[in-house]
Amino acid sequence: MSDTDAKKTAPDGAPSGPPSPGSGGNPPAGKGQGGPPMQGGRVMDPRIQQQQALVASRLKDIKHVLIVMSGKGGVGKSTVASGLAVRLSERGKKVGILDMDLTGPDLPKFLGRADAKVTNSERGGMAPVKVNDNLVLMSLAYLIPDEKSSVVWRGPMKMGAIRQMLTDVDWGKLDYLVIDLPPGTSDEPLSVAQSIPDADGCILVTTPHSVSILDVMKSIDFGRKLGMHMLGLVENMSGLECPHCHEGIDLFGKGLGKELAEEFEVPFLGAVAIDPDAASDGGRASVPAVLRDGSKAAKEFDAVVDRVEEEVGKRPPRKAPKGLGLPMAR
Ligand SMILES: Nc1ncnc2c1ncn2[C@@H]1O[C@H](COP(=O)(O)OP(=O)(O)OP(=O)(O)O)[C@@H](O)[C@H]1O
Ligand SMILES: [Mg+2]
Repeated sequence: MSDTDAKKTAPDGAPSGPPSPGSGGNPPAGKGQGGPPMQGGRVMDPRIQQQQALVASRLKDIKHVLIVMSGKGGVGKSTVASGLAVRLSERGKKVGILDMDLTGPDLPKFLGRADAKVTNSERGGMAPVKVNDNLVLMSLAYLIPDEKSSVVWRGPMKMGAIRQMLTDVDWGKLDYLVIDLPPGTSDEPLSVAQSIPDADGCILVTTPHSVSILDVMKSIDFGRKLGMHMLGLVENMSGLECPHCHEGIDLFGKGLGKELAEEFEVPFLGAVAIDPDAASDGGRASVPAVLRDGSKAAKEFDAVVDRVEEEVGKRPPRKAPKGLGLPMAR
């Protein structure tokens, strides 16, 4: 990627500068020595500080926050986010999943809870929807009156919805909160990065296509400029087993995701094959199709979940906020 490409991705409020392949370094969020609160190497806007404090108090009983993102659309972010949430919950962890895709909130469908209704929590705020005994879900889809109608998201309305999703959901005590982001590097990822500076990190999703790889490079650059930790990268839709001869077919190529991870010093979490039956076989209602019992993709996905747990295990636990205006720092 050229420097020009990298600079084009610099979000409002984020520091500009060259991309950082191989740097491995993430500018930390937190307080500078005796100075004002900083994020991504810059003095923080007081409004962002306040938002951070509100979000921090809402998420104070959550041990780990994982953010699934990619610069590219349709690469499997929602599949990875929902699959990860389901598998972690099946491993006995208490998990919440937040669908932050304002224009295409698909998670209620992926998790078989499209008809559910959001209720008020007794402790204040909105109660997320139960998917299984260990998994709860919140999606903007629940706040839009008709799933077939489109919403014209004007700037302030969009920011209001993002804020509401981050501050008004009563998650309670969780081991993991998984956040599914829309593609790109605009308002939703920016708000999440600024509001949760102590997230355990980003899980990047790419396919082996070279266009997808380029867009994920931009995501890494974007995240690092904002001080986000890169937890790891998943190469999704990585090859396919021919249903007739069982030979491997590298439909979209193979291995570029791993190469990208190595170049940018991001842990490689694994490759997940295309499951040719994912679209036709709905599988269990509360499980994304790619986790179909016994499929090659499902087995590979389980190995990715193992790697995610391993990487999260290296992270210190999140700290409870000390007071309004003080961003959390690890
Ligand atoms: N490994 C896979 N094998 C087969 N189908 C898959 C696989 N991964 C994802 N899909 C399918 O590809 C489509 C796109 O996946 P998904 O919605 O997860 O992508 P996304 O990156 O979240 O898209 P968007 O950018 O629109 O949010 C879905 O229909 C999903 O079921
Ligand atoms: Mg999605």
